[in-house]
Amino acid sequence: MQALILAGGQGTRLRPLTSQVPKPVVPLVEQPFIGYMFEWLRGHGVDDVIMSCGFLADGVRAVLGDGSGFGIRLRYVEEPEPLGTGGALKFAEELLDERFFMLNGDVLTDIDLTAQLAQHERTGARATLALIGVDDPSAYGLVRRRPDHSVGEFLEKPGADQVLDTNLINAGAYIMEREVLADMAPAGTNSSIERDVFPRLVDHGLFGYEATGYWLDIGTPRRYLQGTYDILEGKVITNVGARLADAGMRLLPNGGVQGRVAAPALISEGCQIAPSASIGGRVVLGRGVRIGAGARVEDSVVLEGAVIGARTQIRGAIIGPDVVIGDRCHVDGEVVLGAGVRVGNDNVLTAGARIFPGVSLPDGAIKF
Ligand code: GDD
Ligand code: MG
Repeated sequence: MQALILAGGQGTRLRPLTSQVPKPVVPLVEQPFIGYMFEWLRGHGVDDVIMSCGFLADGVRAVLGDGSGFGIRLRYVEEPEPLGTGGALKFAEELLDERFFMLNGDVLTDIDLTAQLAQHERTGARATLALIGVDDPSAYGLVRRRPDHSVGEFLEKPGADQVLDTNLINAGAYIMEREVLADMAPAGTNSSIERDVFPRLVDHGLFGYEATGYWLDIGTPRRYLQGTYDILEGKVITNVGARLADAGMRLLPNGGVQGRVAAPALISEGCQIAPSASIGGRVVLGRGVRIGAGARVEDSVVLEGAVIGARTQIRGAIIGPDVVIGDRCHVDGEVVLGAGVRVGNDNVLTAGARIFPGVSLPDGAIKF
């Protein structure tokens, strides 16, 4: 079976992680984020994937190539300018099979696509949306469903007053019949599948499949961290989660590391951790990360090549690749540091601060 993955958004809410690399290839635990989606799709019989890119497409291609490293055939369509989620679908029309999966490219999930497909066939739908219950539907596409599973209403980003009676939202995983594209605006036109296509498909073959299992849109720093924790703790079914469980929740490079590492944690090749440093739980260190004496890192992601100074404390933060943080700093509160940021000694960064790639902060520049 075939899948079309939408991956052309700019990932603005995840900046500065997405300032230089597109959201699909942002590293998550041990591989580019989209690798989890490929694993999941393969498990449901998908071997042919089309990536719909726009923003930073070359970056996606450079990392993912022809898909052989992931055991799939991978092709790309590149919009000259962002066409929206509907426009992106229409733009890929020539490559699409009669029936295909369509996915939002920023969702970490293990929902049962095979069961969704079975329902799609049973109802004779033209499009079937996976639905998932969330606490606050206002950030998503709200879906009202009838007892026969047909969709009665699709409301993208509803107001608080519109969500009182249901918490089911569009999970961004669709099964589509190609004929749906016949009624869409012509190729090259900007359109939104959520605002222009689905609302018009109501009563014309649009059905919802209520999924169970793990589901998370990783598109903000808070959710990116949540996805990291959930992979490490095995709350979502992934290969790395299974390997972690086998290894007693600590994956360490061959030869091990010095310093204290509390589970769950994944420490990559080439890391150097000072003996008096303390790492974990819920920590990922990318390749070649160096942690200084007496430093403490918990609930955080430190990407490839970053250096953390002595007695610096990091908690609930995302440290980008090749960042250098001096001594005695405190970094917490969903702070995100972009690639190559330099933070001098004795700084305090908190409360969701985001520092963009390449910026340098002198010693003692920020305190709270
Ligand atoms: N090719 C292409 N072109 N892809 C795009 C474009 C575009 O112009 N715009 C957005 N995308 C991709 C994004 O990269 C992302 O993978 C997906 O489409 C959804 O866009 P988001 O910007 O992440 O949308 P959202 O999270 O606010 O809302 C969507 O996802 C929710 C579930 O996570 C909607 O589909 C909601 O209805 C849904 O509930
Ligand atoms: Mg999203």
